[in-house]
Amino acid sequence: MPVVAAIGAQWGDEGKGKIVDMLAEKARYVVRFNGGDNAGHTVVNPHGEFKLRLTPSGIFYKNTTSIIGNGVVINPAVLNAEVDMLNSRGIDTSRLLISDRAHLIMPYHIAIEGLEEKALGAKAIGTTLKGIGPAFADKVARSGIRTGDLLDKAVFRDKLATTLEAKNKILTRVYGAKALSLDEIYTQYCQYADRWASHICDTSVILAAAVEKNEPILLEGAQGFLLDPDYGTYPFATSSSPTSANACLGSGIPPNKITHIVGVFKAFQTRVGAGPMPTELKDATGDMIRERGQEYGTVSGRARRCGWFDAVAARLSVRVNGFNSIAITRLDILDGMPRLKICTAYKLDGKTIDYFPSSIAALEKCEPVLEEIAGWDKPTNDVRKFKDLPPNSQRYIKKLEELTGCPVSLISVGKHREATIVRKSVF
Ligand code: GDP
Ligand code: IMO
Ligand code: MG
Repeated sequence: MPVVAAIGAQWGDEGKGKIVDMLAEKARYVVRFNGGDNAGHTVVNPHGEFKLRLTPSGIFYKNTTSIIGNGVVINPAVLNAEVDMLNSRGIDTSRLLISDRAHLIMPYHIAIEGLEEKALGAKAIGTTLKGIGPAFADKVARSGIRTGDLLDKAVFRDKLATTLEAKNKILTRVYGAKALSLDEIYTQYCQYADRWASHICDTSVILAAAVEKNEPILLEGAQGFLLDPDYGTYPFATSSSPTSANACLGSGIPPNKITHIVGVFKAFQTRVGAGPMPTELKDATGDMIRERGQEYGTVSGRARRCGWFDAVAARLSVRVNGFNSIAITRLDILDGMPRLKICTAYKLDGKTIDYFPSSIAALEKCEPVLEEIAGWDKPTNDVRKFKDLPPNSQRYIKKLEELTGCPVSLISVGKHREATIVRKSVF
């Protein structure tokens, strides 16, 4: 039975929320496996429009269990607010489960990240300032606190006291900032513990049983492949892996149980925050795409940098993630543009290259080699079959398949759940 992973394939905000909400109809479990509330996944369905940061985008279906996996870092204050919002809008969250291995974002993570980014000045990463990087840093430094620790308040207080002592030294001595209060954090997190204790468990056991029973599972990626700390534009990256490989590690499902990996790509390219982006359009066309697509951050409201589809970066994404197929989103945003361009290679120091350099310095020098392709006039929003798309729009999709070497299974032509062309079912 299917275990499908939906992976962000560019720099995030590809429309994973839309695709996951649509695919989740067939799933029994939907699992977030990486990132934290740096994510902002927009879902538009018969219940309304939602911007989810921690809750899996399958939460809207009555028969689906939503799991926040061990690979996620959780800010319980954000979780509370999100679940309250969902409940106030009539969405049942009683089946939400949280891995006892998931790490907690603590107030010092957020405070330290703010100070670090400020200290970097013009060299700042442009993070979401949610404490994501410091929380993952503590995880690998073995000083993190996990949701499971909340289940024993004495253990939690002990761990918090040890870690906070060290963090307060950084806050006061390195940055000259105020120390944080152990009692205040302890009291606050005990309230979170009381609220979430009955939802915190070893979710990998539940997923193993689901795999055993052949129940359909959907793994929901956050961020995008080009923000991966290994393969992305490091150091302008996030701190947990958005790749298909981490879909396994961050959920506890072994690689040989995954039946289909779908890479979610926008029909063009966007990026928020700093770092190289070879196809960025710093001109009227870039502004036009931003305005047509309302390309502003789901969480932060920051303007997204816009550019042409980058097939060089896409090929790396296809190769490392092992995509079985691609979901193209936001095709409708390109409706009415007379000419479109796709980046097929880069020019670096006078040479044409067909690979995505690992070095930021090299990538910053890369100029896109662009192939022009005719656009289409007719709106695509109401199209539900590939053959009904305008011929040039079909050509555009086929060109993307040819350049990436991967078949396009799903095409999204609007933000609503039903505004999707299913060429081949992934479940
Ligand atoms: P995510 O982080 O990958 O879930 O993506 P975001 O929600 O941050 O950004 C994607 C934006 O595109 C959201 O506003 C979605 O509602 C919207 N969206 C998704 N698919 C489509 C589509 O096919 N057409 C249009 N017009 N909007 C879409
Ligand atoms: P979704 O799941 C787009 C970017 C930030 C910054 C870099 C590091 O909605 O696609 P971080 O706070 O993670 O340490 O920031 O990563 N970033 C995202 N960009 N979509 C996201 O999530 C992102 N999550 C992080 O803008 O450049
Ligand atoms: Mg987003």
